[in-house]
Amino acid sequence: MNIFGTIYKVMLIGSSHGNMVGAVIDGVPPNEEISIEQINEDLKRRAPGQSKVTTERKEGDSLIIEAGILNGKTTGEPIVAFVRNRDVDSSYYDEIRDTPRPGHADYPAYVKYKGANDYRGGGRFSGRMTIGLVIAGSIAKQILKRHNVEIIAYTKEIGGIVAEPEVVEENFIFSDENIVRVANRSSIQSIVDAILKAKEEGDSLGGVVECQVMGLPVGVGEPIFDSIESKLAHIAFSIPATKGIEFGSGFRAARMKGSEHNDPYVVEDDKIRTLTNNAGGILGGLSNGMPVVFRIAFKPTSSIKKKQTTINKETGQQVDLKVRGRHDPCIVPRAVPIVANAAAIVMLDLFLKGGFLHRR
Ligand SMILES: Cc1cc2nc3c(=O)[nH]c(=O)nc-3n(C[C@H](O)[C@H](O)[C@H](O)COP(=O)(O)O)c2cc1C
Repeated sequence: MNIFGTIYKVMLIGSSHGNMVGAVIDGVPPNEEISIEQINEDLKRRAPGQSKVTTERKEGDSLIIEAGILNGKTTGEPIVAFVRNRDVDSSYYDEIRDTPRPGHADYPAYVKYKGANDYRGGGRFSGRMTIGLVIAGSIAKQILKRHNVEIIAYTKEIGGIVAEPEVVEENFIFSDENIVRVANRSSIQSIVDAILKAKEEGDSLGGVVECQVMGLPVGVGEPIFDSIESKLAHIAFSIPATKGIEFGSGFRAARMKGSEHNDPYVVEDDKIRTLTNNAGGILGGLSNGMPVVFRIAFKPTSSIKKKQTTINKETGQQVDLKVRGRHDPCIVPRAVPIVANAAAIVMLDLFLKGGFLHRR
């Protein structure tokens, strides 16, 4: 399926090297002020060619809104928004049609679609498909902000180097100002060096993005199938290269005792909160008033220049492959704004489902 969401529904359209890529968004609340500049800003943060640690591919991802926003406000009709694909070089993808890249979707996609899928630039399996998520998420974030919900994301780890965030609120801006998007000044150089070293070796690195959703009222989320965790995990795995997601203490919870893991309730400034946040702000699938905290693990980029073994589909022979073309040595810095905006899509959908948008 190409549609995500129950009320705020996002359909991703286009493909990597086709005419355009973007989203059709249904269920958008009417009369909401939307800054196109802000959407373009988010797209710029996702775009490649930003620094020496991303691919040199340049994409002037400039937004086109065909419907749904008039005079700066949502009209209530579906929003149709996309960017044109430029700086496209599909020639290499013709070369590797018969030799699927290990770690990419080439082989299963070829079998599933009987070779008819748009294979250029990875087609629907390209990281470029996340442009629609960024657009829909940017709109959702702007609406949520008016309800005091703030979403921040930053790089938590790359190539095994962990960058614990310093004070988060200040660091949101800070993490946006360094090319690897960490929220910890002392880790920037070692992470940049690690990425550049992997790039030089024709290799790639993976890592972890952490995201925090702050300011949610208590009770957002629907029990069982539409729990906050279910919805965030669902959208997380729609971001290519995602390999795992954890909430709060995550897998560490399995090694803790109840007395360590439970978050004690306290009253502070007449508000109920918890002293710790092992729950990651979610209990029973519902927000408990603490920040929703989750981490997504991204694998290392599969298209690498280093020699790998694959097969030639035509001859059935085993062959060597060195992937050419312009690829990210590590997609994590570019994934940071995608994760935050994907979370915004989930939160707005759950806000609408729970009737929270009208409780202002
Ligand atoms: C922002 C972004 C950029 C990406 N860039 C590349 C890339 O340059 N080269 C590549 O091989 N994969 C890249 N990927 C990952 C592939 O799209 C992904 O690994 C592939 O579709 C297979 O899907 P899977 O890893 O989820 O199984 C990127 C992913 C994202 C989110």
